[in-house]
Amino acid sequence: MDYTARMSRVIAIANQKGGVGKTTTTVNLSAALASMQKRVLLIDLDPQGNATMGCGVDKYEVEKSVFDVLVDGMSINEAKQHSLENKCDVLPANADLTAAEVELMSLDRREQRLHNALTEVRGDYDYILIDCPPSLNILTLNAFVTADSVLVPIQCEYYALEGLSALLETIEGVRETVNPDLAIEGLLRTMYDGRNRLGVEVSGQLIQHFGDQVFRTVVPRNVRLAEAPSHGISIMQYDKTSRGALAYLALAGEILRQRSRQEKTSANVAASESNTNKSDAPVEQVQVGADTATVKPVSSDIETADG
Ligand SMILES: Nc1ncnc2c1ncn2[C@@H]1O[C@H](COP(=O)(O)OP(=O)(O)OP(=O)(O)O)[C@@H](O)[C@H]1O
Ligand SMILES: [Mg+2]
Repeated sequence: MDYTARMSRVIAIANQKGGVGKTTTTVNLSAALASMQKRVLLIDLDPQGNATMGCGVDKYEVEKSVFDVLVDGMSINEAKQHSLENKCDVLPANADLTAAEVELMSLDRREQRLHNALTEVRGDYDYILIDCPPSLNILTLNAFVTADSVLVPIQCEYYALEGLSALLETIEGVRETVNPDLAIEGLLRTMYDGRNRLGVEVSGQLIQHFGDQVFRTVVPRNVRLAEAPSHGISIMQYDKTSRGALAYLALAGEILRQRSRQEKTSANVAASESNTNKSDAPVEQVQVGADTATVKPVSSDIETADG
C-alpha cells in the first residue's frame, strides 16, 4: 500500500450515553478541520438530525438523506449537501432514519450498507466524521464497520465511566469480525469545568484507566458552544475566539498530528517489511504496525484548556 497517498480518515463519534457532546464535537471538529483546508464530509447518523441542523441544513426541508443511502442504495453524492457556513459537505438525517432500523433488518449485510456507500467518495475527502445516535444499534454498527477509528466524547460527571465498557466491547467485537483495524481515535473530555471537584476526579480516573488514549485537549463547558447550533453555524463562525472554538481547533490539531505520526510509522513498517532480511527488522516497529488498531494519541505537547 502507498501510505503517502492515503484516502480519507473516517472517524465515528460515538457514545451510547445521551447528551455527552457527540453532535457538538462532530459539527465543530468538522468545521475546525475545514478551517484548516481539510476536505470534510459530515455524516449525520442520528434520527434527531441535530448535526444536520447545526450545519445550517433544515432537517424538515431535506428531501434526500442518509436514509435513502442506507435503505435504497442512493449514492452519497446524490444525497449530500454543502454547508457554506461550515465549509463542509453534509449527508443529512431526519426522523425518517428511525424507520431505517426496521427496514435494514430485512436487508442482506445490513451492517455494511454505509461502508459500501462510502467506497465511492472516500477519495474525495480528508476526513469523514460520523455523528452516531445515543445507542449501540444497527446505525452505530454501520458506522463502526466503515470507520478507521472511534472518537468517544465523555462528560466528566459521576456516571461517565458507566457504559464505557459496553462501548469498548462492541468496538472489540467489530474488530474481531468485520473491521480488524478499527482504532480508538481517543477519549475526549467534554463540558469540563475545572472548578467542579467531581469533574476533576473523573478526569483523573479516565487518565488513570486509559492513559494517553485520552486526548490532551479538554473541551470546557462554554455557553457559546451551546448557542451556536440555534444559528445553524459552528463555533468557528459563531465566535472563533471563544474557549470552545479554541478547544476544537486544538483537538483538530491533535488529530492531524496523530495521523501524520501514524502514517510515518506505517511507512516505516512497510519499508522494513519489504526489506528482504526481515528478521533484522526492529521488533518495536513491527509491533507498532501490527498494533495500529490501538494506536494512541499525542502525549507529548500540551494542547489547551486544562485549567
Ligand atoms: N462544551 C459544552 N459546553 C456547553 N454546552 C455544551 C457543550 N457541549 C455540548 N453542550 C450542550 O449539551 C447538550 C448536549 O450536547 P450534544 O447534543 O452535543 O450531545 P450528544 O451526545 O450529541 O446528545 P445525543 O446523545 O442526544 O445525541 C446540547 O444542548 C449542547 O449544546
Ligand atoms: Mg447528538
